[in-house]
Amino acid sequence: MRYPDKSAVNEHFSRAARSYDAHAILQLAVGRALVQRLPGELPVPTALDLGCATAPFARAQQQALPQVQWQAVDLSRVMLAEAAERGRLNDHYRPLCADAETLPLADASQGLVFSCFALQWCDPQRVMTEIHRVLAPGGRLLLALPLAGSLRELRDSWQAVNGRPHVNRLPALADWQAATQQAGFADAQLQQQVMVESYHSVKQIARRLKATGADHVSGATGLTGKNAWLAMVKEYESKRTEQGLPLTWNVLFLDAEKIG
Ligand SMILES: C[S@@+](CC[C@H](N)C(=O)[O-])C[C@H]1O[C@@H](n2cnc3c(N)ncnc32)[C@H](O)[C@@H]1O
Repeated sequence: MRYPDKSAVNEHFSRAARSYDAHAILQLAVGRALVQRLPGELPVPTALDLGCATAPFARAQQQALPQVQWQAVDLSRVMLAEAAERGRLNDHYRPLCADAETLPLADASQGLVFSCFALQWCDPQRVMTEIHRVLAPGGRLLLALPLAGSLRELRDSWQAVNGRPHVNRLPALADWQAATQQAGFADAQLQQQVMVESYHSVKQIARRLKATGADHVSGATGLTGKNAWLAMVKEYESKRTEQGLPLTWNVLFLDAEKIG
């Protein structure tokens, strides 16, 4: 599988920094569910929020683990600046601009890695190996991200019109399962949950994806013509139900511990 270029991912999220919190309804709900699963104790008092964006969970994370030194990690400096502007960073919750696949952190230095809706553009094998490396023995990984099959209505509607990649291909559950095992996590728990959002219009869907930076598509070139857009909207409208236009997310919840 071809993984998106990091500078393009960075650029997309940097543009979405201001609008992110107000539109990331599903991401924030998933993150709150992940916060509920935080352990009460860590083997060492250090934790990362990988791909934290505006650090929307900073307060809840610190309340759950008050003695812990957190690092808010993101590829995008603009996102970290937005987190600071929103008052979410402090001496115990510091920013670190870095790529999750190559963390500038020592081996076995972290008690916890938390990550919500951020690692879907990474190579599963590379990022899981890196997370395993920085975790201390007994350290926990709590992760949620969208899997292949997410945004399927949008992908299928575009596919019917011009067959171009308007939705990124995402790794599947089996890819994350294999990467988790190969990285050295034994007994990891992986659960898949299908969540369906409802929208009034395709325009509303497009706006939401843009405002959350999720509209980045690797391999897409040029602008989409008006006729193609209208044809895609017509196709999508054929999927309308009583609740509105469906948008499916296939979400992975992963809970693992580094044994050792
Ligand atoms: C959809 S936002 C998720 C934000 C937050 N975790 C939440 O759940 O609301 C994804 C964030 O991950 C960051 N990101 C994407 N790939 C990354 C990588 N390889 N390393 C670090 N951050 C990354 C993006 O810059 C963006 O800010």
